[in-house]
Amino acid sequence: MTEPHSKKQPVPLRIEAAQLHAFVCAIWEQAGSAPREAALVADHLVGASLTGHDSHGVGMIPRYVASMRDNELKLNLHAEVVRDAGAVLTIEGNKGFGQVVAFEAMELGIARAKKLGVCAVGLRGAHHIGRIGHWAEQCAAAGLVSFHFVNVAGDPLVAPFGGTDRRIGTNPFCAAFPRTGRPPLVLDFATSAIAYGKARVAFNQGKATPPGSLIDHEGRASVDPRVMMEAPFGSLTPMGGHKGFGLAAMCEIFGGALSGGFTTHADTLGTTNAIVNCMLSVILDPNAFDAPNAEAEADAFLEWVKASPLAAGTGQIFAPGEPERATRAERSAAGVPVDPATWQQILDAARDAGMPASDVDTWARKLH
Ligand SMILES: NC(=O)c1ccc[n+]([C@@H]2O[C@H](COP(=O)([O-])OP(=O)(O)OC[C@H]3O[C@@H](n4cnc5c(N)ncnc54)[C@H](O)[C@@H]3O)[C@@H](O)[C@H]2O)c1
Repeated sequence: MTEPHSKKQPVPLRIEAAQLHAFVCAIWEQAGSAPREAALVADHLVGASLTGHDSHGVGMIPRYVASMRDNELKLNLHAEVVRDAGAVLTIEGNKGFGQVVAFEAMELGIARAKKLGVCAVGLRGAHHIGRIGHWAEQCAAAGLVSFHFVNVAGDPLVAPFGGTDRRIGTNPFCAAFPRTGRPPLVLDFATSAIAYGKARVAFNQGKATPPGSLIDHEGRASVDPRVMMEAPFGSLTPMGGHKGFGLAAMCEIFGGALSGGFTTHADTLGTTNAIVNCMLSVILDPNAFDAPNAEAEADAFLEWVKASPLAAGTGQIFAPGEPERATRAERSAAGVPVDPATWQQILDAARDAGMPASDVDTWARKLH
């Protein structure tokens, strides 16, 4: 097995969420985003960092700036409805900010699901739409159930079950169930054994990745995130063996093909810093079902599973979304941890985005 590189574990900064949000807004406004766009991007990235998904939080800023400079990520674009078939909407993202076009696609789908009871939204060609749970939470805040199949089009990082090189994206799946006056249940994960960003965060922090989540360029098991960061490149493995591979394949086909976007194959491999996502979202109004006890039944089930005697070393049985809520509460109080390597990359990206060096220094002093 390839062993991890050894680095001293760096101590993360803790940055107050509201201040981090203001800095992220300032970066994107400096880059040319309208204030609403900058705020939607900051809501999403700081929100993902607050939930503990650092892989999809503010650490994405350098990649987004690089994509903008490659003329791939386009600022100030909006979701474009290319086909309205009533309960089915097809929406083009045109490589606009995923945080804007997915937000707008969900707004359209929510309005339609409230009217018809159901709406399927095919969103294609969005620049990175980040943490998919954010979109499920948007639907849940409107009282709606949703599930989301997403492909990372043309950006293979994951080996197929039984294969030894990267052929598939980390294709996330997400499903959410709203609850009256309480937070929704939100299941949200990459179909790879770990999200790619988690390998990046582990690399920046000098940590090993969990056993079974990586193979090197020769298909040998590895716990060294370097195999994902430096040539010759290895691959992530699919979660749950053949089942994760199968779910990833359906995310690829529902998200990439059914939306009218594209799937990953030899003709579509990306060569730039862009991350292109396509997503099929199915949004349902629970009130349209003859199911007055749906929420009570969900509660009874959760109470039942949580009563299971705890396995050794386990402190608690979590419902989907509970770990994120706990982390959000802790980080809202204590600040968002950002490791020094990631923080330096963000400051460099702010300069690359056009922020004067003196302003970057002022922000760095204020937030440190
Ligand atoms: N936009 C993209 O291209 C893209 C690609 C891949 C992943 N992502 C995002 O990356 C994020 C991270 O994905 P991940 O695979 O690392 O997530 P993960 O492995 O941390 O799994 C998260 C899910 O598992 C649940 N969970 C976590 N610990 C639990 C426990 N102990 N008991 C019960 N449930 C538990 C969480 O509530 C959540 O629903 C997700 O938000 C995903 O949407 C985005």
